[in-house]
Amino acid sequence: MFSDPQPVLDELRADYGPVVGLGFGPARMAIVGGPAEVRSLFTRPVEDFRWNHKFNALAVVVGKQSMITSDGDDWARRRGAVQTAFSRRRLNGWIPMIIEQADAAIDALPADGRHQVDLYPVGRAAILEIVVRAFFGASMADKAERFGDLMQRPQDYLELPAWKQVPHPFPIGTRGRVRADRRAFDDLVREAMGAIRDRPSPDPDDVLEVLVHDETLSEQEILDQVNTLVGAGFDTTAASLAWMLWCCGLAPDIWAALRDEADLVLGAPGEERVFDHTALNRLEVADRVVKETLRLHPAGVISPREAARDLDIAGHTIAKGTLILWSAHLAGRDPDVWDDPVRFDPDRFLDMTEDQRTAADAAWVPFGGGRRNCIGFALAQMELTLLIARLAQRLDITPPTSGKPGPVGMVVNRPKGGVPFEVSRRN
Ligand code: HEM
Repeated sequence: MFSDPQPVLDELRADYGPVVGLGFGPARMAIVGGPAEVRSLFTRPVEDFRWNHKFNALAVVVGKQSMITSDGDDWARRRGAVQTAFSRRRLNGWIPMIIEQADAAIDALPADGRHQVDLYPVGRAAILEIVVRAFFGASMADKAERFGDLMQRPQDYLELPAWKQVPHPFPIGTRGRVRADRRAFDDLVREAMGAIRDRPSPDPDDVLEVLVHDETLSEQEILDQVNTLVGAGFDTTAASLAWMLWCCGLAPDIWAALRDEADLVLGAPGEERVFDHTALNRLEVADRVVKETLRLHPAGVISPREAARDLDIAGHTIAKGTLILWSAHLAGRDPDVWDDPVRFDPDRFLDMTEDQRTAADAAWVPFGGGRRNCIGFALAQMELTLLIARLAQRLDITPPTSGKPGPVGMVVNRPKGGVPFEVSRRN
């Protein structure tokens, strides 16, 4: 369950239904996978749950003052401050930069001939660069690789089996090294904060700038939110891009449709075009491809929260203290909602009846829902839409096999073995 959860989840769902209780005593768990039941979690008051619970190992990496590990008024204040930084205006301002970074990644590939390239690290590096530019401004862009290196060990640590994450306060072992990387990460962020304080005029695109000037956050709170945003914001999106490439690589018609649309909307690289939200809104095929990929391969297969009181979830009783693992994977493949659920078919989102749309809206939950939904969902969707459009426009890709690989990763679900495709640049 905690190393390769997907087959276990599928089996539990098939044998026992949409809500399954497991474990005993203080280690009670409930897997919630039915769309109605998952929605019922999202519509309850956030006070019914705790994210700062005994099983939450994230705090070692992101800190105790991160919004992702806090509850109550502290969570609301931290989340509110970050939310301001993700305004629609700021998101739209990043559109040209995202296309620029997609072009830079493509331009770094061999210019002629077909080559075997693992597109997973290529996409991951591009997304890291986008995130660093968006969060810290262009002046920190040359530090993107360093940020990535310092995130690697913490991310590997979170993927370790639970028994290897047993808490201890000593500066030794993997945990000690994770803490040291976190301190080095904070030093980089402090450097960026210093540059912001010295700056005569504000940079309107920079997320950190908003946090630095927010008078409700302490320095430690800013550092914890920034670490959370980079950690939650880049591996998840990179894993989704990797799955999307597999899904489209195996469907040449869809790749061709993405390309036609991108030719029309984005124009050729170097051509004078205005890249703004109207261009993004016209990438309808790309938007459906993103949605369908996230339905089938959500980066978070299960997400944990603890019941803060006895709860009735769509007729199921869940006792206080139970660790609730709600599953975007199960909801996204629910056979009562999705026709032929494991088939990759972006057009399933077209021409839905009112009832179908309501059911699909309830079952499509890769970013969670309610007040604790993903704060970065619009950024992630925007990045994925623009990246897949530009990649389809500029690359020909051939997967090495006729089937998708299995998944790997407990915290972030990605394709086993990466995306080792034959790739050539389009003439
Ligand atoms: C495809 C990419 C992504 C996926 C699938 C994803 C998924 C999720 C999910 C399912 C949750 C809710 C977990 C729960 O119910 O407890 C969540 C929360 C969160 N996500 Fe994302 N995420 C993605 C990208 C991002 C990005 C780009 C950022 C940052 C810019 C981000 C930052 C966060 C934060 C800070 C939270 C916690 C919110 C809170 O506790 O109030 N995520 N994400």
